[in-house]
Amino acid sequence: MIETKIWTVDEMDAAARAIKRGALVAFPTETVYGLGADAFNEEAVSKVYAAKGRPSDNPLIVHVADPEQVSEFAVVNEQAKKLMSAYWPGPLTMILPVKPGNLSLTVTGGLDTVAIRLPDNDATRQLIRASQTPIVGPSANTSGKPSPTLAKHVYHDLHGKIAGILDDGPTKIGVESTVLDLSADIPAVLRPGKITPAQIEAVLQTTVDSEIHHVADNETPKAPGMKYRHYAPDKKVYMVAPEDWTQAIIWMQAQLEPVGLMLTNDLISQHQLAGMDFIWSLGDNNETAAAKLFAGLRYFDDKKDIQTILVAGLPQLDVNGAYNNRLGKAAGGHWISELFNN
Ligand code: TXA
Ligand code: MG
Repeated sequence: MIETKIWTVDEMDAAARAIKRGALVAFPTETVYGLGADAFNEEAVSKVYAAKGRPSDNPLIVHVADPEQVSEFAVVNEQAKKLMSAYWPGPLTMILPVKPGNLSLTVTGGLDTVAIRLPDNDATRQLIRASQTPIVGPSANTSGKPSPTLAKHVYHDLHGKIAGILDDGPTKIGVESTVLDLSADIPAVLRPGKITPAQIEAVLQTTVDSEIHHVADNETPKAPGMKYRHYAPDKKVYMVAPEDWTQAIIWMQAQLEPVGLMLTNDLISQHQLAGMDFIWSLGDNNETAAAKLFAGLRYFDDKKDIQTILVAGLPQLDVNGAYNNRLGKAAGGHWISELFNN
């Protein structure tokens, strides 16, 4: 066991020294906290997989502080340049062909492509500059847990296993970046995020493939992470469609054990749930719902009394793609209406 420090943004130098000596440091981004290591230090990168319990064929995103850093290890095409100027810094990860020889196979999981992103977080960009190296970073959760949106979530999962956490408060967006494959002929969204397919199409002036590909066990996936079950709490999770809340609450009241509810404030007042136990507010709108989703799943995951969680599904708009995708995974695709006898 090592002692895991929590560093404030003013203690950046200590965090950068840890990265330089090959230790693991969790860092904030606008999406979720990442688990950082020097991308050019193979031994440090291996420790990331071990700390998370992550399969070694699931490659890591390389985080840079400046777009110029990318050409050190990847081939930057015209589409990537356009998207970098439109959406970086920001929640868009691009997959580009790797320049052979510069990056260890541990980072790319043996693929000939690499995922890259420039996070919209000043502290982390300073950390990357001070460490004088790009930093690999999967989400800083134990594999199978929801991604961390607070330093305390990282501490919960990884204390004793990493050198420290750079704490910059709650992350703003709360769901991971859009992953866009630019290494094939047609750009393809492999994971939905805040940057929508329509926003990407507007910049590239070309169609983008956004049919999320579900990968079977015996298939080589486009994004290796997609074949693993993600973000799933230990509890039973059901999605609730907007029109099903009245029936869902009747169902809940018939249960012997308490049930956790995660829903927006308009639903809380509409169904007069304010002040009740085991309510997690998703805030006032689609954006707050995304920001508070993972924290809510973790909150109920840690409550012994709660075995079942009902979570508001949002209307299927492009902007809700990431929320509904992550919630769908946590719920294993299950809707509460499956339990109604009608
Ligand atoms: O918002 C985010 O993207 C956060 C923050 C920390 O930056 N990071 C994150 O990393 O979510 P991770 O490792 O949890 O998810 C990265 C996803 C995985 O599904 C992985 O399989 C995929 O990106 N990926 C990474 N490199 C790839 C590659 N070369 N080709 C295809 N997919 C790749
Ligand atoms: Mg992850």
